[in-house]
Amino acid sequence: MHNGPITPLEEAVSKLAEGRRSPTTGERDAVTLLQRFADTFLRDVNLGVLLIDLQFRLVDISDTACKLLGWSREQVVNHRINELFGAMPKEHHPIKRSLLGGVVATNYAFSWQNGTYRHELLMDSNVVRCEDGQILGAYVLFKDVTNLKSLEEQVQRNDRLAMVGQIAAGTAHEIRNPLTSIKGFLQMFKRTLTERGMNKEVEFADIMLTELNRINELVGEFLLLSKPKDLNIEQLRIEQVMEEIVPIIRNEAVMHNVDVRVVHTVPLPPVVADREMLKQVFLNIAKNGIEAMVDGGHLSIYLKIDESCKCVLVDIHDSGPGIPGFLVDKIFDPFFTTKPNGTGLGLSVCQRIISDMGGGIRVASKGYGTTFTIAIPY
Ligand SMILES: Nc1ncnc2c1ncn2[C@@H]1O[C@H](COP(=O)(O)OP(=O)(O)O)[C@@H](O)[C@H]1O
Ligand SMILES: [Mg+2]
Repeated sequence: MHNGPITPLEEAVSKLAEGRRSPTTGERDAVTLLQRFADTFLRDVNLGVLLIDLQFRLVDISDTACKLLGWSREQVVNHRINELFGAMPKEHHPIKRSLLGGVVATNYAFSWQNGTYRHELLMDSNVVRCEDGQILGAYVLFKDVTNLKSLEEQVQRNDRLAMVGQIAAGTAHEIRNPLTSIKGFLQMFKRTLTERGMNKEVEFADIMLTELNRINELVGEFLLLSKPKDLNIEQLRIEQVMEEIVPIIRNEAVMHNVDVRVVHTVPLPPVVADREMLKQVFLNIAKNGIEAMVDGGHLSIYLKIDESCKCVLVDIHDSGPGIPGFLVDKIFDPFFTTKPNGTGLGLSVCQRIISDMGGGIRVASKGYGTTFTIAIPY
């Protein structure tokens, strides 16, 4: 309620409501305008708007609200709010009856699953009163902040990555040196054991060596995660880098019954980057694709240009099972892995390297098949 001067429109509406006299043309125009504004507003505004009456029924809803919540206007208008949330337990309903008692909400955050898409919403709600202060109903406004939320998560992820990087830098070398001498002595033992025909012990030594290699690999990935000190930046051609590693990828692919093809139709501009780091990225992502295709499949690598962002794009597509929607946000986290022997460091290393080059990595996975797109600025 405001206490300012009453506008001609307000005066007209209140007089007409009281039925004191028939409207003048000007008043009729004003009421039509107000009516049209309300309709246009609900249709066009980029906000979720719900209007609720005292019986806790939905009186009207904006198009954006329908789109975000996955409802159709005809299906929900005039229905009780509680019915609209179906089987969801009452305590989890984002809109509660207490709203009509004057409980005001500001920036109340809630998540809404619409099919496979999850919206993060921020809601305001309040009551609508008539002039004497009596409550007529309530309104709810909400905004989709999913993108803001993922931006926030990205910042947190980068912070975590930086921390892991620092720990890695401090410890990785210290671990690697003793590992090298343990490995050396173990190989010596193995030779002696072989000479003495101690087959069981030779087998154990082999297992120990395999495990040591695994630690070594892990530490290697740790080192990459920490800022590499000796970056070797040069002007290079992505197609050439790819040519150098395709044999390694094919080698890995053959073992998994996967065929590999590289498609590259337009000439690409040279980029300025570290050759070995780039190889590491392409190998890691191709390897993930191959590992995802447990029953074999196709790995396709496309080299393209995106002139709008001045980037060379490398698409690495696999015909594997895809990444479930609820995991997509996690795969770049250090140590996130779904593999029994995974380190979960591959993608975080890749992301680090590419973002250091001013590029980016995107992933698209729609139920079947996954494409990682690596953008490298030229
Ligand atoms: N092409 C892909 N298809 C399906 N899942 C993938 C793919 N690439 C990555 N992932 C998922 O991302 C996780 C993290 O990958 P990564 O960081 O390379 O670690 P790791 O390979 O050691 O598990 C994998 O465990 C897997 O669940
Ligand atoms: Mg990996």
